[in-house]
Amino acid sequence: MTLHDRQKNLTEIVAGNTGLPAKVDVVAQVMSQTRLSADVCKLVLQAPSIALRSQPGQFVQVGLQQGGTLLRRPLGLAEVDNRQGNISLIYRIVGKGTDALSNLREGAVVKVLGPLGHGFSKETQKPLLVGGGMGLSPLLYCAKWLSAHNIKVDVLMGGRTAEELFWQRLFATCTDNIYLTTDDGSLGLKGFVTDLLPQILTKSDYDKVMVCGPEIMMKNVYKVCREKIVPCEVSLERRMGCGLGACLSCSIDTLSGRRKVCKDGPVFPAEEVFF
Ligand code: FES
Repeated sequence: MTLHDRQKNLTEIVAGNTGLPAKVDVVAQVMSQTRLSADVCKLVLQAPSIALRSQPGQFVQVGLQQGGTLLRRPLGLAEVDNRQGNISLIYRIVGKGTDALSNLREGAVVKVLGPLGHGFSKETQKPLLVGGGMGLSPLLYCAKWLSAHNIKVDVLMGGRTAEELFWQRLFATCTDNIYLTTDDGSLGLKGFVTDLLPQILTKSDYDKVMVCGPEIMMKNVYKVCREKIVPCEVSLERRMGCGLGACLSCSIDTLSGRRKVCKDGPVFPAEEVFF
């Protein structure tokens, strides 16, 4: 059976609403591994059954065999290509697990469980995406999805230096306007995304702001959105054990009670979150 046939069958099963589970646990082959900056890599995996089920803002648990133990790492979906059956993950090398991940080459295999969590709501006609650091990874998938559905997307991104904003290239094909800030002024406006955000929200009639990045950034972005009365969604990051809502390691307090970032999120309406 060809990849196309497999995807077609899966499409029919999902369309037929036969109760197929929302997530699957698969063995995925590495299609490519690319270095995007000194410590950031892009891993493309062949996982058609996950690609087919995925929504922007969701994540997967990637399992690596280490000394006889399967260690899972939660990683946000950065791109999904349903024609090829591929998913892309962009991650920073921060420890042994991600270092081991960065050494995988084409043809290697990993265990992948997903897609997991709830992503961004798609009720928008004029969104502004705001991101910093690795928070730009789930926003990339979001921008590509919106653009593929003929919704014009603008993005405001911030980094410490110009080198950190390699993301600009990745967003170029799926966004209309890209606004940039850097802490050192080496690219775009010198300062933080929140220095530029008020004037961007004033000059355009965005109906939603979608944010992912450091928590302090999301908190301050939400503050500006509240003042300008623009709905805001945030994608939270927490340490995750199971990724399935079972271990409670990712619990947070929200306006509607105790919630799990892995299962109820990672995307929440900003007004629900106690920053
Ligand atoms: Fe276990 Fe969320 S990671 S409940």
